[in-house]
Amino acid sequence: MRTEQPQVIYLKDYQAPDYLIDETHLTFELFEDHSLVHAQLVMRRNPERGAGLPPLVLDGQQLELLRAALDDQELAPGDYRLDDATLTVQPSAERFTLDTSVKIHPERNTALEGLYKSGSMFCTQCEAEGFRKITYYLDRPDVMSRFTTTVIAEQHRYPVLLSNGNPVDSGPADEGRHWATWEDPFKKPAYLFALVAGDLWCVEDSFTRQSGRDVTLRIYVEPENIDKCAHAMASLKKSMRWDEEVYGREYDLDIFMIVAVNDFNMGAMENKGLNIFNSSCVLARAETATDAAHQRVEGVVAHEYFHNWSGNRVTCRDWFQLSLKEGFTVFRDAEFSADMNSRTVKRIEDVAYLRTHQFAEDAGPMAHPVRPDSFIEISNFYTLTVYEKGAEVVGMVRTLLGDEGFRKGSDLYFERHDGQAVTTDDFIQAMEDANGADLTQFKRWYSQAGTPRLAVSEAYDAEARTYSLTFRQSCPATPGQDQKLPFVIPVALGLLDDQGRDLPLQLVGEASAPGTSRVLAVTEAEQTFTFQGIDARPLPSLLRGFSAPVKLTFPYDRNQLMFLMQHDSDGFNRWEAGQQLAVQVLQELIGQHRRGEALVLDQRLITALASVLGDTSLDAAMVAEMLSLPGEAYLTEISEVADVEAIHTAREFARRQIAEQLSDALWSRYQAHRQVSRSTAYVAEAEHFARRSLQNIALSYLMLGATPPALEAALEQFDQADNMTERLTALAVLVNSPFEAERAKALNAFAEHFKDNPLVMDQWFSVQAASPLPGGLARVKALMQHPAFTLKNPNKVRALVGAFAGQNLINFHAADGSGYRFLADLVIELNALNPQIASRQLTPLTRWRKYDAARQALMKAELERIRASGSLSSDVYEVVSKSLA
Ligand code: TRP
Ligand code: ZN
Repeated sequence: MRTEQPQVIYLKDYQAPDYLIDETHLTFELFEDHSLVHAQLVMRRNPERGAGLPPLVLDGQQLELLRAALDDQELAPGDYRLDDATLTVQPSAERFTLDTSVKIHPERNTALEGLYKSGSMFCTQCEAEGFRKITYYLDRPDVMSRFTTTVIAEQHRYPVLLSNGNPVDSGPADEGRHWATWEDPFKKPAYLFALVAGDLWCVEDSFTRQSGRDVTLRIYVEPENIDKCAHAMASLKKSMRWDEEVYGREYDLDIFMIVAVNDFNMGAMENKGLNIFNSSCVLARAETATDAAHQRVEGVVAHEYFHNWSGNRVTCRDWFQLSLKEGFTVFRDAEFSADMNSRTVKRIEDVAYLRTHQFAEDAGPMAHPVRPDSFIEISNFYTLTVYEKGAEVVGMVRTLLGDEGFRKGSDLYFERHDGQAVTTDDFIQAMEDANGADLTQFKRWYSQAGTPRLAVSEAYDAEARTYSLTFRQSCPATPGQDQKLPFVIPVALGLLDDQGRDLPLQLVGEASAPGTSRVLAVTEAEQTFTFQGIDARPLPSLLRGFSAPVKLTFPYDRNQLMFLMQHDSDGFNRWEAGQQLAVQVLQELIGQHRRGEALVLDQRLITALASVLGDTSLDAAMVAEMLSLPGEAYLTEISEVADVEAIHTAREFARRQIAEQLSDALWSRYQAHRQVSRSTAYVAEAEHFARRSLQNIALSYLMLGATPPALEAALEQFDQADNMTERLTALAVLVNSPFEAERAKALNAFAEHFKDNPLVMDQWFSVQAASPLPGGLARVKALMQHPAFTLKNPNKVRALVGAFAGQNLINFHAADGSGYRFLADLVIELNALNPQIASRQLTPLTRWRKYDAARQALMKAELERIRASGSLSSDVYEVVSKSLA
């Protein structure tokens, strides 16, 4: 908890550390009512910082200091200074050894940062600044040290003792205890430290590196989950192979371990050689995990594994550089997933997510650049901007340099900075040096916040046979940044003739056309590109593959969008044309509703979807994506002022119209796919994901009609499915249906069957929390009393509270403010338990500027109530105060 005014930390104040830690020797004595941590730090003056011996200021929080010694000289209380965040001692030589012993209380640690207990096991989470809750240290990523770790614990309760690196020795100790020592040969910052002690089983496999050496792979889980590790293990091996093939990166230790824990603030953590995962990102098997969960496991396993190079071997100089490792690693894992599954579908999912959530963040009070220039609490900056927009920025570098140039740049980056803690500027410098490129202006993507607007207009000159596109870019003001300079915006595009064929693209002044799809770099506030040899006015296909994270507008009419949906050679843009068509149609319905008119759906949307649904040559996953209307959250994001009720009504109206008018086609698709599902064993691969996704969206539409055959189909699928993907969708459509008896019966049967599987119960909570039926808040409050629910488990909070406030917009934004009050109460309670989770759950309230005056007032009042509620964590304090600024 905060005791003083929280401090703002600025990038411009960065200074290299006064001292370095060459070696870190840790001994942990784990007990049930406390733990002891003995640290021996072999230190020296940082030569970069000049002469003299300034005081050594170590970070440390919530530690009880038992002993300190400098070069074996015991320090008396007068020899050091202690406050609630630091320990200061005065070295008397350039090289010295500092010994400390502290007492800590992992058994009481509900913040899940530092050393804590998840169920019966001990585990750690040190990123970003958790290590200071374990021992006194220079807890900053530019201090890299060689670690040895000894863990001593009761043999019976904690037969497995793990830490980073290689096991060096182990043996019995007194009083039924035992010990194990681990040594990590690689220098690392403290945030990559990890320790695990528990009664765990493991699945073991091995991987043969390109160089021929074997690596032992182990996934540790609680015994009841030993049958749910195969998918993660397969994903790990694929990741290791992929990083060798695509980036030339080999694994560097003889053992790689993953541990699954139930209580975890985020998805997973890339600790060197010992990744610790939220169990939701490891455990997967057909009966208990959906296709989406399987894909998430694959993606997160890859992400954490890829960090071994992009994050661990080359790490961040300071936390402002977080996107150096996160943006790059998200880019890497997205490419991996694209290669393992369907590239276009992966891109569609990522872009939909970015535009809905990151664009909203970029337009809100917490907007910040990919490389922020200040923060109060770094935990608040593990954001969509740093991760997802950061990945887009890396993707644009690749688009601008080409695949080969990008690989040359990444090779140089890894080689030049191996073992170092560096900056995003160093990353870009390597890309520039390897390619002889100048990315000076491009770097504004790192320093300027906000989503650029790119307005495009066209002009065709029949006589000159030229076609011009004019791009005008601008970027709205964000907190602390009123004026923005032009970005470098790579626009991938094509021009379609009236048959839908791509035209050769030859700019005026060029001797020939380099191709039919190309990338233009828009660098000016306003810029025109003119193509020659164009015989008739073409239709532009712009920003193919979403080549830049911008809001592009072009005055397409609905017929043109339908044409692009059918003919664009870029799969992403075919989907995008459908989305734009749907947005236009939905916005028209929203207007009708607001004016109190009868809703009339533009039939062209039905025509377009009918042809998509009827086209059996299209990938089923693409059909499913194209049938999905833009979500309420996205419609909110693109509104000036969002009318919650109108958005919900309009979208539901359109869904029912689609369901009714396309009923035959939906039924035939549903039955064909369900038939295949019924007779096929579950396989976690793209073509099976595709079939089930179309089958499930068809069922969701069909159930909107609430007809007896639809109910029958839902019940059949619920009862008979052999996998969670089909079963959960069946449950969801029943939960959202008017069939009360069947709904209750299904919910009970599901809970009874899966009551011992917390991850499945999370799904059960989510499905109910997200249901738009009236009475949502009362349902959520009742579910909070369910024995399987606890505020201490982040997955439970996300499943129930997060799903309600983030996905159930019509209920959360109830006009009486009851949803807001509920969320504020919860944040106040969570603030004391787990500040990181409290601060994240607050996000929906930070979006108050999007709503009408009455809701704005209610939301702000709740933010003010939180602000006044007493001792706020720095996490919650920062978000609340910035939201009200
Ligand atoms: N580095 C982790 C990742 O791969 C992020 C992370 C895991 C994290 N646990 C955390 C960040 C706790 C802050 C706090 O993305
Ligand atoms: Zn990461």
